[in-house]
Amino acid sequence: MFLRHGASFVNDIQQELLEIVTQVRTHLEYQKALGVTVVESLAVPVSTAALVPQPVVKSVRAAEPAPQEPARKDSTVALSPPASSGTLTLVREELGECTRCKLSKGRNAIVFGEGNPEAKLVFIGEGPGQEEDQQGRPFVGAAGQLLTDIIVKGMGLKREDVYICNIVKCRPPGNRNPEPDEIEACEPFLIKQLQAIRPQVIVALGNVAVKTLLKTKAGITSLRGTWQTYQGIPLMPTFHPAYLLRTPGDKKLVWEDIKKVMAEMNKIKKG
Ligand code: URA
Repeated sequence: MFLRHGASFVNDIQQELLEIVTQVRTHLEYQKALGVTVVESLAVPVSTAALVPQPVVKSVRAAEPAPQEPARKDSTVALSPPASSGTLTLVREELGECTRCKLSKGRNAIVFGEGNPEAKLVFIGEGPGQEEDQQGRPFVGAAGQLLTDIIVKGMGLKREDVYICNIVKCRPPGNRNPEPDEIEACEPFLIKQLQAIRPQVIVALGNVAVKTLLKTKAGITSLRGTWQTYQGIPLMPTFHPAYLLRTPGDKKLVWEDIKKVMAEMNKIKKG
């Protein structure tokens, strides 16, 4: 009896050690991908950086310049109680072959969003680029590859575990920023998607996502890394992956933000 329990105890320990080794390896691979040096990498061991829950910090970092206008702590549209996973399909049906704004004229495909309809974590970008417009899927171009690396190599999740969508669902011509009337036409559908999914945490990627969701004029540089709230859901603003492709030196900052997201999700998991 004791021997049997002893063997299963050893198995448990072996399993745990295997998981730790896998996590450390994933972490180091991701650090390498981000261009973090060995010294920096070792300074942020996975055990303390990624696994220990950290408090939700709601204030803007003191070292940052004051935003022109403080971000609203919450937006105005109340999310309804948890809906069934079928609701996302209904939202897609309601969207139909949308012609509610001028972006519909130049698009190849509507990029509705994809992932787990019951995802605990949702990433929200700006709008589809050329590759996304071709495939009808969010974040599948170069910036998408970087986002996928963040999710898979950085967070140790599968892309299918999370939900990925955009502020607007049709490609703005020449990848320009979506205009206010386009955002206004599309936003009700994003709100309904979030009502259907009811994630535990939202990551807002870049200026357009942050300004739209938080109804603020404050920019991503001042808000990134600081917890905000969207309808009671913790929201972490961080740099857009397309910006990181142009400014790889800032990948380290995004990793800091993502570690906060992982810690928050761990905290929620443990109750
Ligand atoms: N950039 C975005 O904001 N969204 C995408 O889906 C792709 C690139």
